[in-house]
Amino acid sequence: MTTPRTRLIANLRAIVAIPLAGAGLLGLATLPAQAETPVQSPPAQSSALQAPDVAVKKTSGCGCCVAWMEHMEENGFSVSGENVPNGALVRFKMRSGVPQEMASCHTARVGGYVIEGHVPAADVRRLLDERPDAVGLAVPGMPLGSPGMDFGDDQEAYEVHLIRRDGSTEVFSRHPGS
Ligand code: CU
Ligand code: CU
Repeated sequence: MTTPRTRLIANLRAIVAIPLAGAGLLGLATLPAQAETPVQSPPAQSSALQAPDVAVKKTSGCGCCVAWMEHMEENGFSVSGENVPNGALVRFKMRSGVPQEMASCHTARVGGYVIEGHVPAADVRRLLDERPDAVGLAVPGMPLGSPGMDFGDDQEAYEVHLIRRDGSTEVFSRHPGS
């Protein structure tokens, strides 16, 4: 069955598939998960008083990226966005230490950490409070119901993953489906 809703979802899935396919074409798929340029160690300064800026890289025309940026702004972050070509975005993800299987649409930097995809603001807050020694957080793909992917009542269960510096990941938080 094809409804406008399922077509929309199919389109969004196609958007996510592009960076992954692009990585394969560039021969980056065989790169080790280790980042080319390690992310700088996060400053020891506390984030409690002021939420640091969120700098987002995305491709132009990504509506769900803009919706996620609005979600972050609504939750007290100041957010800036930069549109980059798809290949440059893929390379930025790789350089930033985002494992290929963790990839989503946009890649953000905040407080020395990388945020990949539709990570809820509350998880970003917790990351900035706890300041683990890690690359950052990722919600791979684009789960329906995650911030910026929330249209209607459908909500998939999804997990936020913590990306360690060696490229390994662990579950940071779980968000149940509806
Ligand atoms: Cu998205
Ligand atoms: Cu996005």
